[in-house]
Amino acid sequence: MEILLHHDYLIHALSSTEGSPVLGLCRSGQCKGWVASTSLPTLFRELEGQERDKAKDLLSSLSVASPTAGDLRNALQDERFDEKLASILVQSCGFDAVVTTIPENFSGDDILVLTPEQLQSKVESPPGKVNEVKLLDISASYHQILNDVEVEMADTTRKGHFILGAKVSELEEKIAEYCQTKYAVGVSSGTDALLISLMAAGIGEGDEVITSPYTFFATAGSIIRAGAKPVFVDINDVTFNIKAEHIERCITSRTRAIMPVHLYGQCADMDPINELAKKNNLIVIEDSAQSIGSEYKNKRSGSLGDMGCFSFFPAKNLGAFGDGGIVTTSSEDLYEKLKVLRVHGSKPKYYHKTIGGNFRLDALQAGVVKAKLNYLEGWTEKRRQNATVYNQLLQQNALTQYIQLPPEVFPRHVFNQYVIRAGNRRDELRAFLNENKIGCEIYYPLPLHVQECFQSLGYKKGDFPESEKAADESLALPISHEITQAQQEYVVENIRRFFLGS
Ligand SMILES: Cc1ncc(COP(=O)(O)O)c(C=O)c1O
Repeated sequence: MEILLHHDYLIHALSSTEGSPVLGLCRSGQCKGWVASTSLPTLFRELEGQERDKAKDLLSSLSVASPTAGDLRNALQDERFDEKLASILVQSCGFDAVVTTIPENFSGDDILVLTPEQLQSKVESPPGKVNEVKLLDISASYHQILNDVEVEMADTTRKGHFILGAKVSELEEKIAEYCQTKYAVGVSSGTDALLISLMAAGIGEGDEVITSPYTFFATAGSIIRAGAKPVFVDINDVTFNIKAEHIERCITSRTRAIMPVHLYGQCADMDPINELAKKNNLIVIEDSAQSIGSEYKNKRSGSLGDMGCFSFFPAKNLGAFGDGGIVTTSSEDLYEKLKVLRVHGSKPKYYHKTIGGNFRLDALQAGVVKAKLNYLEGWTEKRRQNATVYNQLLQQNALTQYIQLPPEVFPRHVFNQYVIRAGNRRDELRAFLNENKIGCEIYYPLPLHVQECFQSLGYKKGDFPESEKAADESLALPISHEITQAQQEYVVENIRRFFLGS
């Protein structure tokens, strides 16, 4: 539960000699406690000496919610300024309740008002039955990061430096270190990360790039936008990633690069890909959009080829509050080219030897991603645990005779998606889960070689049977770090009801 501790309660708790069970709940993580920033001056004015020290200690286990100017203006319309402001914060931040010792002051407000005793008994009573699981609830863990993110955003807005600058450089250093590369270049999206990498490699008209047809559109879309031709190679039926054994026969005199995709968060089999690239003098550009933190033989995604392209789309394991992306590389030459191409090919400013584009990452997004990066390892471990829990529950319920689980072939899989195969009953299963308010999705229902816009490439249905089969059978279940075991049990219970009846 997320609760706003109204300042009457905080003063009461801090002046009491007996300690506060509610603060205990916040410290132990059973509740997420918030305090309004506007309460703090009042709180400190009313407390003295030792109580002030206690308050500082207390604040370390609470988060601070700041009202906007609009919230303050609305609260001023009401005679009960403090209570009205608390009600507005509870509603706009999506908190579950306000905790107060004087509940009558909130009468008439459309929020849940709890006394400390009521909160305690609510937390101690058994949780209600789960009846809904969203595929992704991006705001569910905002409380964890919001204060860190606000610090970054306020810093940027106060300094007024919105394009590139220190925030982007700091993020680039941190991501390069995280991905085990020498450099990183922040860009405007994962799609642009792919495009600028192809441009930096000098790939264009008349060139061919080998990639997977079973991926998000941007992989092949950016090859065409760079002026080159995507050459598709079918996937491995277990990993959903490009099958290295099929690549060699597609290499021609025009082939310039291989673009493996680490789909769903598991790395492609990179050793044979890199061997082929070396033998044929090809560039390797990893589409790492879904795989930040994943590893192949103890090396991180983004460090496995010449360049790694990441997306900070909000649904990714490390998402911004909008669009963003980054390219990693350990080549100084590519790093210099990427930096110039990102700003229209300008070096020095207003002098252009090459044509680039506006591929800049903005400072606000860089600050958000930098703040969130500190949590990424914890979130990744939680996703991996969630995958283990699904595997166990699906096996225990004898469901593996109907569905195929996603194996971890190359540790470590970071499970941007947990994708099962449900054979020819996939669409029925999806409809059943949706009826029971379980979010699930097909990534992707139509492989790229049969997309209408790629007809001129000359492929037809049947050319890549494994990709077509994956598109017909695969289904992604909710896996984000925010979901609980009870929610996973609800998902599996419904899969069991679908295949085995109740
Ligand atoms: C495999 C893959 N490649 C590229 C992209 C493009 O990233 P963005 O949406 O940031 O442009 C995505 C994002 O969904 C992706 O999943």
